Amino acid sequence: MKRVLVAGATGYLGRYVVTALKNHEFYTKVLVRHPDKLSQRGKFLAPSIPNADEVVIGDITKRETLKHICNNIDYVFSSVGITTQKDRLTFNDVDFQGNLNLLKEAEHSHVDKFMYIHVYLDDDLKEAGPLIEAKKRFVKALIESNVDHIIVRPTGYFSDLTQFLKMAKKGRVYLIGDGKTRINPIHGEDLARFCIQSFSEENQTLDIGGPEILTYEQIAYLAFDVFNQKKQIVHIPVGFLKPASVGLKLVSKHYYGLYRFFMNVMTNNVIAPMYGNHKIKNYFNDIV
Ligand SMILES: NC(=O)c1ccc[n+]([C@@H]2O[C@H](COP(=O)([O-])OP(=O)(O)OC[C@H]3O[C@@H](n4cnc5c(N)ncnc54)[C@H](OP(=O)(O)O)[C@@H]3O)[C@@H](O)[C@H]2O)c1
Repeated sequence: MKRVLVAGATGYLGRYVVTALKNHEFYTKVLVRHPDKLSQRGKFLAPSIPNADEVVIGDITKRETLKHICNNIDYVFSSVGITTQKDRLTFNDVDFQGNLNLLKEAEHSHVDKFMYIHVYLDDDLKEAGPLIEAKKRFVKALIESNVDHIIVRPTGYFSDLTQFLKMAKKGRVYLIGDGKTRINPIHGEDLARFCIQSFSEENQTLDIGGPEILTYEQIAYLAFDVFNQKKQIVHIPVGFLKPASVGLKLVSKHYYGLYRFFMNVMTNNVIAPMYGNHKIKNYFNDIV
């Protein structure tokens, strides 16, 4: 029985990963900051966390809380990163240094493999922004480490598409540009299954997306259909947002990082090899 440490277990993807690991009878140890979340339902239809074999309470940014956490562990899985958390930590603190702290422990305990959830984006992006830069720095350190790496680069998660539902419910969906940019987003359950299958890989970077390639305009239409709403789409010209981007960069690196990430995803096609069964239309119907 392989022993897996899951960091990020209370998040959207982490919950599906712990569930899939338990279903496949892996020994599962979870690192959590807030143990009360273990008994709470997940957001965006993500499942409750099944009983883990071991729970460690710690914070990836505090190295002392991670001491010996990887002892007797075969595989480390980390989907830790800043998404919507508001705890004053920076992308550098969490996405880079936090994951690096965990990697040091993994090296120290000679784990077999470290699987890291990165993000699928064009490597030649002109302005990746601080979120992606922090992740890229960690990926470089992971590849250079003496632990076998599996880097998974997913497109976008279904959880993020709920923003379209929120807007559609209010009767108006705002899109950046002409709405013709395409993406194949992936459901957490499909991605978790892919991750667990991929533990058999060695030193690989794996790009992955869901089974449907849609434009943002098509996703907006699917969201309107759920509410039987008149379709009203407002297109925001990309150039209109440029001054806001300059201002944000000066005022808040955190919000600039999130904004830059959002802009990169909305204005570049994000299409990776297709995987999974979950369809966006069904997800939208289930969640409302
Ligand atoms: N959303 C997308 O479309 C998308 C696409 C591609 C890649 N990704 C990447 O995939 C990863 C997972 O995304 P997600 O949607 O599952 O994120 P999420 O729901 O926000 O989950 C993040 C997890 O990381 C944990 N975490 C954050 N800071 C921590 C710290 N200092 N110490 C220990 N744990 C910490 C959170 O714990 P708490 O519950 O305590 O906050 C949570 O369990 C992220 O790195 C994200 O950038 C996301």
